[in-house]
Amino acid sequence: MYLKIEGINKSFTNDQNEKVKVLDNISMEIEKGSFVSIVGPSGCGKSTLLDVIAGLEKADSGFISVSGKKINKPGPDRVVVFQEDGLFPWLTVLDNVMYGLHLKKISKIDAEKKAKEILKMVHLSQYIHSYPHQLSGGMKQRVAIARALVMEPDILLMDEPFSALDEQTKMMLHNELLDIWKETKVTIFFVTHDIREAVKLSEKIVVLATRPGKIKEIITVPAMKDSMMPNSVTLKMERKILTILQTEIDKVWKEEMGDEYSFQTNYIHRSDSNHLGNDI
Ligand SMILES: Nc1ncnc2c1ncn2[C@@H]1O[C@H](COP(=O)(O)OP(=O)(O)OP(=O)(O)O)[C@@H](O)[C@H]1O
Ligand SMILES: [Mg+2]
Repeated sequence: MYLKIEGINKSFTNDQNEKVKVLDNISMEIEKGSFVSIVGPSGCGKSTLLDVIAGLEKADSGFISVSGKKINKPGPDRVVVFQEDGLFPWLTVLDNVMYGLHLKKISKIDAEKKAKEILKMVHLSQYIHSYPHQLSGGMKQRVAIARALVMEPDILLMDEPFSALDEQTKMMLHNELLDIWKETKVTIFFVTHDIREAVKLSEKIVVLATRPGKIKEIITVPAMKDSMMPNSVTLKMERKILTILQTEIDKVWKEEMGDEYSFQTNYIHRSDSNHLGNDI
């Protein structure tokens, strides 16, 4: 198997100096070139798991391997795109994208050629001399994706990359990301709390339970990416995942609200209270 996550355990120490287990024996195998999303309630350990794969956090036990080779530190084969674009404000779009190539000691001519090709792929050729503050949020995130792709990673690790964007921009970037994925055949590990986004983009969805983060279920999404609009099949998938997550979301609310917790669990659509038709 290509990307293997084997028995990952991870704890952090909280403010009261207590050890809190965040990831509990997480194992999964990810095929080369696949698109896998991780969903789960806030604080369940999604970003921690991504950071462990990126080599930014060390697991307490367990291992990650890529093509059979164990990894424990960051490497050019795995590049991360975060929610915040993280661009250098004093560099132009082109220089931001070329930055990593300079560090790799690639000649300026080759770096510029490569960066321009990638910027064309994300439809930013007209903005290569602009500075980040002159771009919209969606454009900045496309530069961040270009900056990651220019390194030709085997695995693109994305942590809620579109969550700060409006719905229309998000929809556009979803299409763009799917095109890039098909073109580059990069393996994508995508963290999101947005179930609709996960269903729309991925082939497999890993649902994490919370405190500690454990795999609750791995769901295969039917291959039907021709339409980007929700339909009866995708709505059914969304509903399935929401139902799985319902107890987890309740758990988080109860913990965070303590005695003030008085929520009824019916804030999630249920068949009896919100019947959407037999196919849904
Ligand atoms: N460096 C750290 N030190 C202490 N605790 C941490 C650290 N990083 C994360 N945690 C804790 O680990 C838990 C999981 O955090 P993580 O950021 O992985 O969750 P998440 O699923 O990505 O949440 P969200 O959806 O809100 O981004 C949280 O309770 C968080 O407070
Ligand atoms: Mg997170």
